[in-house]
Amino acid sequence: MKQYVIAIFVLAFIWACNNPSVSNSGGDDLGEAVFKKNCKLCHGIDGKQMLNGAKDLNLSTMTLEERVNIITNGKKVMIPFKDVLTAKEIKAVAQYTKDTFKPGK
Ligand code: HEC
Repeated sequence: MKQYVIAIFVLAFIWACNNPSVSNSGGDDLGEAVFKKNCKLCHGIDGKQMLNGAKDLNLSTMTLEERVNIITNGKKVMIPFKDVLTAKEIKAVAQYTKDTFKPGK
């Protein structure tokens, strides 16, 4: 009986690790999905599109906190996302832009 309980725990753990929605990798999949849905329009899939004066995200030197801030509150043409996305989604997409768009890409 005890082994059963352990086996179920192990299986649940493996399942949790493989499940992208609860992955520990910093929410990359979530960040990518959020970006494609909400940000691509202005920034482009490669971050280089500069619609309405959007900056090339590959050249951005913003920290994660600054990104979270601009995504949450917006700036000029960029609309605030605080009513559109959850805090978790904002953090994930901020991390995604930081990891994905880099100079020289
Ligand atoms: C309506 C068009 C639009 C949408 C949609 C949009 N942005 Fe922006 N974004 C802008 C503009 C314009 C700027 C430049 C603002 C400024 O500094 O004047 C900007 C700036 C930024 C910056 C700062 C870059 C820098 O270093 O100055 C980041 C990071 C960013 N956007 C991320 C995002 C993310 C993530 C999303 C999706 C959640 C998003 N944006 C959606 C238009 C947009």
